[in-house]
Amino acid sequence: MNLGIKPNRWIFGLLICCTLASSLTRAQNQAATEEPPFRGLPVRNDLATLSIERRVEDLLKQMTLEEKVGQLVQYSIGTPTGPGTGRSGYEEMIAGGQVGSLFNLENATAANRYQHIAMERSRLHIPLLFGLDVIHGYRTIFPVPLAMASTWDPPVVERAAHLAAEEATAAGVRWTFSPMVDIARDARWGRMIEGAGEDPFLGSEMARAYVRGYQGRRLDAPDSMASCAKHYVGYGAAEGGRDYNTAEISEHTLREFYLPPFYAALDEDGASVMSSFNALNGVPATANPFTLKQILRKEWQFQGLVTSDWTAVVELMAHGIANDGATAATKAFTAGVDMDMESNLYHTYLADMVKSGKVTEAQLDEGVRHVLRVKIALGLFEHPYTDETRKRTGPLDKENLELARIAAERSFVLLKNGNGKTIPPVLPLKKGQIVALIGPLADDAQNMLGSWAGRGQRDDVLTLKTALTEAIGAAKVKYAQGGQIRNSTDKEIADAVAAAKKANVAILALGEDAAQMSAEAGSRAHLDLPGRQEELLEKVVATGTPVVLVLFSGRPLTLSWAFERVSAALAAWFPGVQAGPALYRVLYGEAAPSGRLVVSWPRTVGQLPLYYNALSTGRPAGNTDLSHPPQNGIEKYVSRYVDELNSPQFPFGYGLSYTTFEYATPEVSATRISAKALNEYLRKRSPDQKRDVIVSVKVTNTGKNSADETVQLYVGLTGMSVAEPVKALKAFQRVALAPGDTKKVTFELEPEAFAIWGQRNEWGVEPGKATIWVSSNSSGQGGVSLEIGE
Ligand code: NOJ
Repeated sequence: MNLGIKPNRWIFGLLICCTLASSLTRAQNQAATEEPPFRGLPVRNDLATLSIERRVEDLLKQMTLEEKVGQLVQYSIGTPTGPGTGRSGYEEMIAGGQVGSLFNLENATAANRYQHIAMERSRLHIPLLFGLDVIHGYRTIFPVPLAMASTWDPPVVERAAHLAAEEATAAGVRWTFSPMVDIARDARWGRMIEGAGEDPFLGSEMARAYVRGYQGRRLDAPDSMASCAKHYVGYGAAEGGRDYNTAEISEHTLREFYLPPFYAALDEDGASVMSSFNALNGVPATANPFTLKQILRKEWQFQGLVTSDWTAVVELMAHGIANDGATAATKAFTAGVDMDMESNLYHTYLADMVKSGKVTEAQLDEGVRHVLRVKIALGLFEHPYTDETRKRTGPLDKENLELARIAAERSFVLLKNGNGKTIPPVLPLKKGQIVALIGPLADDAQNMLGSWAGRGQRDDVLTLKTALTEAIGAAKVKYAQGGQIRNSTDKEIADAVAAAKKANVAILALGEDAAQMSAEAGSRAHLDLPGRQEELLEKVVATGTPVVLVLFSGRPLTLSWAFERVSAALAAWFPGVQAGPALYRVLYGEAAPSGRLVVSWPRTVGQLPLYYNALSTGRPAGNTDLSHPPQNGIEKYVSRYVDELNSPQFPFGYGLSYTTFEYATPEVSATRISAKALNEYLRKRSPDQKRDVIVSVKVTNTGKNSADETVQLYVGLTGMSVAEPVKALKAFQRVALAPGDTKKVTFELEPEAFAIWGQRNEWGVEPGKATIWVSSNSSGQGGVSLEIGE
């Protein structure tokens, strides 16, 4: 992203360098012999350019205490008396300079109306910043974020995010509360649907793609909007997978797993961050100086804006760290939360806190700086209004729909297609077959829009039933709804069974309710099919008609029985407006399934949290799954369940195709690398010091259909000062392969691929052994070893 003011960047860089240099000299004097621990390089965030800074300081000088506080206040206009605010009368507040940001506005006309008040009636004419949760599209609704990540296709994600920005900015929205970059290891947690799954590397790539897409090449372009990386931090580690619950995360795990996607978003120039609801190691994340001040501001030198989540400031009282609103406001603000979303506490107390000296004026100014910077960078002072004649969305554009369809096609993960023995593959289907289309989600437009559908409309959606009927003709489709998601009558089930009996194949469209059973406040303790859907499935399977299970969900569902019995299973997530055409094309082989899982798929809830990049333990169960119950002491006293396998139903990175791929043994450019050389590069990132390790592998399409393969590279490190994951994703590439084609896929592994957060609480490469696997998912065997010398 380019703010269009890059030439000044070096001047600001120089200022930082001078400050850094003087603090460095001090540190050197203190400990002449020992180098201070290396916490990583600051993010390359471009917000505080010299020209922006001048304008910020100029404004600050003119602002009263109340006007400064006003910049830190944010309200949802859609809910004038929503939880926590107790406020109305926004117009007068805006005129008085008491509001910095509004969100949830309906359209450009509404935005402009409020902006006119800010620009014309407030003393300093500081524009409002309008926000909205544009999560997976604004009007053209894309697959839910978990599905978008399952594409393993950052360019598609970037294009989708940019399209969302084009549509949202036409409605006055210049700030989206996205991307959600929380690492999620527990499928009970409903908000898994909103992120990119369990892996920090993939999560970081996705975070970068979203930020690039939303913010465009220039943040001040009329069709760019500021991103907001959320929820900072540890929200996905909620104990028991219960939303809003406490998280306990060691610093090592925080640094290696939970923080990297945030770093990536901000390194990509992400303009803002949202603090999370959870307590992290006993300190609520919305009043946590370690994560907000030490890491975000000091180590990363982030220059943008931190907002709280919805009423998270007042919730500090419920957390138990404040007994009154004034203390809650003071704790959140002094810990580093610049803007109060909906709590109405900064508005009420912050000025008094400054007057009484509990908050210093310098602290207040710093918070205001962060807000003004983003507003200036967005060009809001020059162009506060939205052009209401700008092309609106709807009917949705052809190219937009095509992108939505491609994204959906690439997000579907083929979990099963026959079993290589007793059950033959049924996919792709043939057009001549009679199809029984069964299930509550076969024709459910609302649920196809997913959990956070911006201004998406159900009438924009093409369902599977619509697309299938159009493509193969009504005469070949025997449709039976089979009941609702949460309930079915005996008759509905009987009708479905009757339809299946008359068909060559049955497609069962089953799953969850997107908004009610996943997303925020959508945690589940049971991960099976709701209502009587499992019974419906069993009865249809019993007819003997081959069953294709199309699963709609915001998370993996534990359906071991189904995965054994059905002929084919496809994880479709919630695919957006083009659900039907995309599903039709994949089911009928017009597009090859190419999605890959971004979360380990559990067999049962008892395995959670479950993630592939786990540590080994001192008593690993090994790769072979052991008998149940254990047969002897050797089988028993290892890290395992006596009544379930350790392995997931489907591993991270997994997904089938309509073809097969073969991998040759990877070639690695070195057998030994030097920790010292890699560390030098990590500290300076100077191109001369770069020490890439080149890994290449030949991949062949050994089947009969063209398809994309996602080639995945994993690294495992042993002999370090701390235990590291058995393997961790460090690179991936999607490659298109025609039948019989072989391609050499090459990865240039940067030193970061071997760096860890070690025992000295610093980043670095340590001597030891690296094993590299290149495979089609995280369960690949073999691996090539590399020595990491001193
Ligand atoms: C609460 C959610 O946690 C957050 O993700 C969202 O952005 C805000 N509400 C604003 O709607």
